Amino acid sequence: MPSIVSPRAGFTNRWTPCQRKLRGYPLTFPVAAAQVGLVGDETARGVTPHRGKSALGKVTAVSGLRRKKTPLPPGKYRMGGKHFKNDDAFIRTAVRDVKRLERLAGLNPQSRLLDWGCGAGRLAVGIREHYKDHRIEDYHGVDVQPDLIDWARTNLTAPGFRFTCVDVANERYNPAGLPDRTIAADPGTVDVLYAYSVFSHMNDDDTAAYLALIGQALSEQGKAFVTCFVEEGVSAWEENPEGYGPLEWKGRLHCTRFERRHFEDLVAGGGLAVDRFVYGRETDGQSLYVLRRA
Ligand SMILES: C[S@@+](CC[C@H](N)C(=O)[O-])C[C@H]1O[C@@H](n2cnc3c(N)ncnc32)[C@H](O)[C@@H]1O
Repeated sequence: MPSIVSPRAGFTNRWTPCQRKLRGYPLTFPVAAAQVGLVGDETARGVTPHRGKSALGKVTAVSGLRRKKTPLPPGKYRMGGKHFKNDDAFIRTAVRDVKRLERLAGLNPQSRLLDWGCGAGRLAVGIREHYKDHRIEDYHGVDVQPDLIDWARTNLTAPGFRFTCVDVANERYNPAGLPDRTIAADPGTVDVLYAYSVFSHMNDDDTAAYLALIGQALSEQGKAFVTCFVEEGVSAWEENPEGYGPLEWKGRLHCTRFERRHFEDLVAGGGLAVDRFVYGRETDGQSLYVLRRA
């Protein structure tokens, strides 16, 4: 039975001007922001050095020495808004998501994990921090931005970790990319796919095509953990909807929002089924889907 957490009746994901002022701090989000926010996608300025000292409590107290050895990307390569310039928040969300992948998608040290739209490897940092051997069987980070992948390759490649840059088009992140689509995975080879804030920056046609590629790539028991903006009673797909969410959306595909039924039709069209849906608790009010093969 899929587990569905639905939006409150009549609720629309709108922010008051006051809430928007406080953007980047999702605890102000009207629904239930149990999460530290992630993908406001503001361009970083400068570099946030990694100091190896933090207020992460247990996680980093245990791994204090280890943390010094886990390189963190400079601020300009961190996707996800101002709060990610803070090393603690960056690592904390990464470790938190590794734990959520364990709980909701069955991630374990033997897993083959595809981090699709990995940025500079935030989740890879979480894997290194969380697991005893600092690795899993196969972590594969894939992204369209060469600078970010170069950084990740240079700093995070290790046994069990690899990164691939795919030159495919995305109007926001790689507008001059090729029209082809790939997620750089062979059919049936991915146990866990993580796509955090990737469909929140994607056109409708690409979304349908990539969901189908995800459906093919998952192993029999595989799960995909994806976030996106979905609402009821809105257009099927909309770019930068005015007055919606915590930010003033700027530029191509800053925020892409789907009508819930439409998104779930695309999911079904991709040979996938909804295992779990949690409305509005992810970064900037995105919803979480856990998907499995239909
Ligand atoms: C908002 S960032 C999220 C980064 C990362 N998932 C995280 O949570 O830290 C979205 C990422 O998706 C990547 N992306 C967009 N379209 C893509 C595609 N077709 N294939 C691979 N990566 C893509 C972007 O380059 C960007 O790094």
